[in-house]
Amino acid sequence: MDKNKYRDEINFKELLKNPIRLFGFVFPGTLLLIVVVGILYVKSVNDISFNDISKALPASVVITDLEMKKGATLPAVDLAIVKNAPVELIQKGRELYDATCSSCHGAKGLGDGSAGAALNPKPRNFTATSGWTNSRSMIGMYKTLQEGILKNGMAAYEYLIPEERLAILHYIRTLAEFPEITDSEVSDMDLTYGFSNEITTANQIPVKLAAEKIIAEGSKEITTVNYAINYVKYHEADIDKEIFEEYVVNLKRLATTLQNNTNLSDFNTFKTAVVNDPLNFGLNSRLARQPEAELKRVHLSFMNLISKSNIK
Ligand code: HEC
Repeated sequence: MDKNKYRDEINFKELLKNPIRLFGFVFPGTLLLIVVVGILYVKSVNDISFNDISKALPASVVITDLEMKKGATLPAVDLAIVKNAPVELIQKGRELYDATCSSCHGAKGLGDGSAGAALNPKPRNFTATSGWTNSRSMIGMYKTLQEGILKNGMAAYEYLIPEERLAILHYIRTLAEFPEITDSEVSDMDLTYGFSNEITTANQIPVKLAAEKIIAEGSKEITTVNYAINYVKYHEADIDKEIFEEYVVNLKRLATTLQNNTNLSDFNTFKTAVVNDPLNFGLNSRLARQPEAELKRVHLSFMNLISKSNIK
């Protein structure tokens, strides 16, 4: 009988003397392991990077959407009264001030009204020349009324129409010495707040809701949008043609977006949205890099177009 017939095919004793030969057996297993781990990694790469990002965000960051707001029509303002107020306007300002502001800022503007006693910081003493948050210039004070200084307890007075706000500010200016109002300040205010246009601040809705609405209305034929497009085509003299040539790549898209998102009539909303995603507005990205003043000019021009195309 052949002894060799029952010999192991693999002689392990021999093998262990030269273990490098074991590699031949281990290699396929190792390869399989690497491939499986690789697939698992690639499959969960989203989760891995997602975890990284959320760790970097402090817990205090809360992302909020725009709130719902009822819009209003603000009549155009005679620019002359931004600089020089007639007596009746100052008188009107006084009445408004006494009714609305004096409870905090005091009858003489010394910041000593009873309702402000508990506030910290105290309501501004209008006769003090330092410590102001937005500055004592007309434009600075107007900004305060427009936006408020909410963290410090000064509310925004958006419900007052521009003329009433100016009236109050002119009255406040009679209570102390204030810096002179310059022409460039007046035009800057006009640019920022669109004084020379009647402005309809439309109802504001959260961006999320607005996005849903655009999608829903996307397929509708909107007459005003066509009107806006034709307006740019045929009324070249009335519009700032240069703006449209410089920045607009898709007028239909721009007109539709402006038409459907009435909250874009607010400059800051417009700015944030356009700077983040100009293409979505049919605008080129050059616009996103423009300085604030240019953005304001463009915004005003768009608002003009939309108000002209609004067939009521
Ligand atoms: C509930 C109290 C309160 C009422 C009412 C109020 N204010 Fe104020 N106001 C404040 C407080 C508090 C500050 C200080 C804010 C700060 O220091 O940043 C302030 C600051 C100001 C400032 C200076 C902002 C700056 O740049 O420092 C102006 C201007 C102003 N108010 C105007 C008005 C006018 C006009 C009215 C009426 C329409 C009014 N306020 C009504 C509490 C009030």
